[in-house]
Amino acid sequence: MGTIDFRPGSIVGNYEIVEQIGEGGMAEVYRARSRSGQCVAIKRLLPAIAHDQRFIDMFVLEARLAATLHHPNIAKVHEVGVDYFAMELIDGHDVRTLLTAAISRARPMPLTITLSIMYGTTCALAYVHDLCGPRGPQEKLNLVHRDISPSNILVSFEGAIKLVDFGIARIETGSVTRSASKQIKGKFPYMSPEQCRARPLDGRSDLFSLGVVLYELTTNTRPFDRNSEFDTLEAIVSGDYPRPSKVIPKYPAALEEIVVRLLATRPNDRYPTAGALLVDLDRVISAHDIDLSNDVLAAHIRAHLGNGEPPPPRKRTTPVTSSDATIPTPHGELSAEAKVPIDRIVARADELMRTVAPDVTDPRDLSSEHVAQLIGRALRWHAKGDLESAVLAVELTLSAARNETTDALLTSNESLILSVLTSLIGDQTRTAVPSQYLDALVGIAIDQRAAFLLTRIDGTLSAHELLATCGLPMRDACRHLCQLLLREIVVLV
Ligand SMILES: Nc1ncnc2c1ncn2[C@@H]1O[C@H](COP(=O)(O)OP(=O)(O)O)[C@@H](O)[C@H]1O
Ligand SMILES: [Mg+2]
Repeated sequence: MGTIDFRPGSIVGNYEIVEQIGEGGMAEVYRARSRSGQCVAIKRLLPAIAHDQRFIDMFVLEARLAATLHHPNIAKVHEVGVDYFAMELIDGHDVRTLLTAAISRARPMPLTITLSIMYGTTCALAYVHDLCGPRGPQEKLNLVHRDISPSNILVSFEGAIKLVDFGIARIETGSVTRSASKQIKGKFPYMSPEQCRARPLDGRSDLFSLGVVLYELTTNTRPFDRNSEFDTLEAIVSGDYPRPSKVIPKYPAALEEIVVRLLATRPNDRYPTAGALLVDLDRVISAHDIDLSNDVLAAHIRAHLGNGEPPPPRKRTTPVTSSDATIPTPHGELSAEAKVPIDRIVARADELMRTVAPDVTDPRDLSSEHVAQLIGRALRWHAKGDLESAVLAVELTLSAARNETTDALLTSNESLILSVLTSLIGDQTRTAVPSQYLDALVGIAIDQRAAFLLTRIDGTLSAHELLATCGLPMRDACRHLCQLLLREIVVLV
């Protein structure tokens, strides 16, 4: 392994190497181009370890495993080569880079970005932890990522959140554990107590690590950073960390509750599943009136990082240890333009916005008069049977920023809104299944809660069961299912 030349211009399989874009503790990642011009990310083992059979085995396992994962919040693997694999290129930043910028500004990241990152990663984990083998629900794989950390979560300029790096993920099937190495693996400051003790893990270990990430995103410090790795491990296993409200006065109480539950020392005291965490995240998202749509996140990323300075380094040559506590000063940030995803539904919604409110570009700026007008239009289209237009009008009304008048309008029209959404859903006894267009999801600007709903659609739930059990308020659940139905990402059979 590792003998192929990866300099810019080199040909690797079907791809031409453009430049190196990332480096972790084990691997390097390159931007490359296929013959048809498609840009991909190519990952290969670091040359220094490319001859070590243990790492080769782990790498091959990662490539094979990642190739079986299909979720909007997980970078998709296109092709597995002899000693590399090609995956979806995430044009953007890893969360470590975003954090470095936030730390240099001495201000935690905006809550919109933090909650989007949390939401997207939790959706990916809900999918990963729930994966089953070919025999269905009776053959749960118990897949654990085991390396949830900021450098393994990517945010694209289009506002998509993607989990990467299944290099040490492990499938535990009863007594058989398929992994190339039995050593403790993971990044010390993010490891769970059970991981530190090399005990058996389940999905709740990833939730602990995600708790460390949430803590860091909201306070710019890590809960268990100590002077040595030993002290860090000891702090983790004894649950010794300052509560976020001790670090940041006025820390939102509901968010602190989530952090504390995620960082519980005993797995039984944590959220039982990623799905349960999503329900609480939703509460915070609603309480802070946060819009999770990709374009809002993309705008935040541009505002947060788009100051025209040169890009910060995304390289890390050694695995992160507690010495990583001193986070390097960033050289600056990327100022890439967000690409506008091609999404027929977004295009139609834009058109509708132009007719109703020609001067408004962001649905959040729609006035209460616009909202009233849109409700009227939704009513007329609904009566005429043009359900797609009616749902789009409703969608825009729900995107408007809330004030007393819009709130009153939405409350008094609650049943109308729900009936428009449920009309599109139609026969609720029918089973929801993902369509063959799942691949089209990449680059489509769906709300992350719609993506969450998608993770629950495995062909066993009727639309009614899905809406009733997904943990979202009924109107939101209907709204997000409509997003998926309109784009034919999901069909009812
Ligand atoms: N699909 C991708 N698109 C863009 N950048 C990526 C992609 N995958 C990884 N990277 C970048 O490369 C870095 C290292 O990749 P990763 O898979 O985490 O390797 P390692 O196993 O060595 O940690 C990541 O932290 C990220 O910055
Ligand atoms: Mg990594």
